[in-house]
Amino acid sequence: MKTKNTTIDFSKLRDDFPMLRKQMHGKPLIYFDSAATAQKPQTVIDTICHFYEEHYGTVHRAVYELALHSTEEYQQVRNKVRDFIHAKKSEEIIYTRGTTESINLVAYSFGKAFVKPGDEVIVSQIAHHSNIVPWQILCEDRGASLRVIPCNDRGELDLEAYRKLLSNKTKIVAMSHVCNSLGTINPIKTMIRMAHDAGAKVLIDGAQASPHLPIDVQDLDADFYAFSGHKTFGPTGIGILYGKEELLNQMPPYQGGGDMIKNVTFEKTTYNDLPLKFEAGTPMIAEVLGLGAAIDYLNAIGMENIQTWEQELLHHATQQIETTEGLKIIGTAKEKGAILSFIVEGIHHLDIGTLLDLQGIAVRTGHHCTQPVMDRFHIPGTTRASFALYNTKAEIDRFVEVLHKVIKQLR
Ligand SMILES: Cc1ncc(COP(=O)(O)O)c(C=O)c1O
Repeated sequence: MKTKNTTIDFSKLRDDFPMLRKQMHGKPLIYFDSAATAQKPQTVIDTICHFYEEHYGTVHRAVYELALHSTEEYQQVRNKVRDFIHAKKSEEIIYTRGTTESINLVAYSFGKAFVKPGDEVIVSQIAHHSNIVPWQILCEDRGASLRVIPCNDRGELDLEAYRKLLSNKTKIVAMSHVCNSLGTINPIKTMIRMAHDAGAKVLIDGAQASPHLPIDVQDLDADFYAFSGHKTFGPTGIGILYGKEELLNQMPPYQGGGDMIKNVTFEKTTYNDLPLKFEAGTPMIAEVLGLGAAIDYLNAIGMENIQTWEQELLHHATQQIETTEGLKIIGTAKEKGAILSFIVEGIHHLDIGTLLDLQGIAVRTGHHCTQPVMDRFHIPGTTRASFALYNTKAEIDRFVEVLHKVIKQLR
């Protein structure tokens, strides 16, 4: 774990985020819910406004100047995303509405092409519901079985159990890069290699990785990789699906409509080449441009620097709260992202969240769309503080001080 950053002054970055100047209940906002959605830097907001005010036009379909301009900018973002995750080709980058839609696309389309009765799909016990339910629907539909990689008491996946689950029946393994309720960073490179040795493909849910870590899909050898724009400091309504070209070419379209066709007759329709084959209908143009601005913003800081800073924040927060009487951290993996989930004996997480909010501190409470994780730890939910590049140690200090008061008040 790296612990020092010398080049970027992270305490100044928060000035780039207008929402972080807000007061909540008369107190400065401390935003610790970036795992749910991240705040937006001014450059993302400006890019979207500028597009609507100065350049608004559709993409692909027209010869006039405005549309040509939009199309050019829109395509450039695809190249930015390609470079951001180190994909080989822009054609391997599909625009979707978010991680959830990316996973549903693969479950539907890969499932239709490759999954037969008797086959198996492997998911993990620490998956977000978005990376469980689409596979359950697929398995029910195709007569396949869902198998689950269990986790240990620290929230780390059991690789020996995973090895035993893999077989020639396994068609695809779907797992997260980083778990959103526990923070566990899964050893996905090893797990992908194990799946490939068994002849299975792998989808990685990168929703909690793209804002925090450098990603290299070629080095990982991931078959599919999904993430969301809104968690990556971009707008809502835009997501990314990376897929290896040869796989995407073998998969049928997910939705039918404009842009995904080459030729339509009532007898037969032929489909467009990648990536448009998977992009039916007028796309989310402003959202794509906003995501492009977010990626520029992240690149200017550097993903390694962000990762180092967030590890410092996590370490600082963990050290401060772990000694609190009656408090238990849920998710203590050796490799962890900047997510701190905890329970406090005898106190409901909703009460903690509500009282923290009254002091201007936004944390998430509940099951965080990971009900099987809560079942595994025999708890109804947690309080979760999740950090991002714009958070500071001073915010954590204030959070800990207020948390201690809140716990005292509720006892
Ligand atoms: C690990 C993980 N996967 C998937 C999702 C779903 O992302 P979205 O709602 O942006 O589609 C989330 C959102 O919290 C997540 O944390």
